Amino acid sequence: MIACSTAAVDETRALGGAVAAVVDTGDVVVLVGDLGAGKTAFVQGFAATLGVTAPVTSPTFTLANRYEGRLVVNHLDVYRFDCPEEVNDLALPELLDDGVTLVEWGDTISSALGAEHLSVTIRFGAGDNDRSFELRGHGESWQRRTDRLSAALEPWASPC
Ligand SMILES: Nc1ncnc2c1ncn2[C@@H]1O[C@H](COP(=O)(O)OP(=O)(O)O)[C@@H](O)[C@H]1O
Ligand SMILES: [Mg+2]
Repeated sequence: MIACSTAAVDETRALGGAVAAVVDTGDVVVLVGDLGAGKTAFVQGFAATLGVTAPVTSPTFTLANRYEGRLVVNHLDVYRFDCPEEVNDLALPELLDDGVTLVEWGDTISSALGAEHLSVTIRFGAGDNDRSFELRGHGESWQRRTDRLSAALEPWASPC
């Protein structure tokens, strides 16, 4: 587990950008955290690092947005799903093959997303702009990248 913290939205964007430096097509990032935690902000920085110039907005009403940068970035928000089976409407296997996929509230559809993923849990901190992050790599490909990811996230590392 990698623990980090930020104290401003731009720091969360930068942290997302640092994670993007270690991803490739087919990767899945699951974002967990209450409304306003900073999931979309994380995706904004992540997409920017991958060369996405289009504005990244919450896909709450569209379920999935697709952005083209150096990689394709799929941005999903499954908050409005009435039931986990709605995931079947998404053509998820094709989507996952097509690019790197970030899923807000993805823990609710974890079985459909597969065992290989990075989970990012965001919590509110003491001050209005404080957020804490827990990043956990699941599966072999993320285990292999743990050291690289820790190094990339060093600027935001929380003291143990
Ligand atoms: N450290 C921080 N990290 C991320 N967002 C922050 C931070 N501090 C304040 N904010 C604010 O919190 C909100 C996060 O919104 P958003 O990224 O849309 O959250 P979510 O997608 O989790 O609902 C934004 O209004 C942002 O300006
Ligand atoms: Mg959001």
